[in-house]
Amino acid sequence: MAEVGHLVVADVRERIAAARAIAVLTGAGISADSGIPTFRGADGLWRTYRAEELATPQAFTRNPRLVWQWYDWRRGIIASKQPNPAHVALVELERRCAHFTLITQNVDGLHARAGSSSHLIELHGNIWTVRCTDCGTRSVDQRVPLPLDRGLPSCGRCGGVLRPHIVWFGESLDPAVMAAATAAATSCELFLVIGTSGIVQPAASLALIAREAGAWVVEVNPERSASPAVHCWLEGRAAQMVPRLVTVTEPDGSSC
Ligand code: APR
Ligand code: ZN
Repeated sequence: MAEVGHLVVADVRERIAAARAIAVLTGAGISADSGIPTFRGADGLWRTYRAEELATPQAFTRNPRLVWQWYDWRRGIIASKQPNPAHVALVELERRCAHFTLITQNVDGLHARAGSSSHLIELHGNIWTVRCTDCGTRSVDQRVPLPLDRGLPSCGRCGGVLRPHIVWFGESLDPAVMAAATAAATSCELFLVIGTSGIVQPAASLALIAREAGAWVVEVNPERSASPAVHCWLEGRAAQMVPRLVTVTEPDGSSC
């Protein structure tokens, strides 16, 4: 159902306002309005680079410098962008809703920069966190650009080579992280899916888990995603649509 009429948006807004437990799943599409390329869109990152060449443990073993150059380039793009009104609206929703969980597939850190905090689950890691390949120590490294001309980032504790703390293709998610996301999906009344193609598992299964647990599933996306779990598709860009769902009046001041 491609609904962008005021009526349906007002209905979703009322359900969001009334819900005591909300879970949100975001994908690259919520950051598209901040100017960060998605993965599978027309100008998507995977259109330009083959994932197998970059975002896999094998690629890192084969050519860690190339992988770090790609991530350094992505970090440079992200560092120059800002959270958009959709990220900010979700911070407001987190403040208002009694039980709120924001689950993101994004590693760009924009939700945290917008102010989303303790109720944020980063399923695929974070591009600003690095992890030692030897001792596993994690730390935050926000240098842009990285001094790759001086060699690969190395661990302050043991000297091991650092890697991005990001879940690569072929790697499993942290079971504790996925368990927390699943718990949020099974205990919410409303599950909001924003800007994801619904292709990559296990993140894509969360909407179905929520629906089967009784939640109403709403999707915000300019295109229909692959998710079979959606009750209501709001056709639109996140930066325009999400604030309309969280504020109590339409942007033109009309009430809902
Ligand atoms: N507002 C909302 N949605 C948008 C916007 C926008 N302005 N622009 C694009 N989209 C939608 C697209 O229609 C698409 O459905 O965002 C989605 C982006 O899909 P993908 O590029 O596949 O990104 P995502 O779903 O987050 O990918 C999931 O795949 O490569 C892995 O780890 C990576 O986390 C990523 C995962
Ligand atoms: Zn180490």
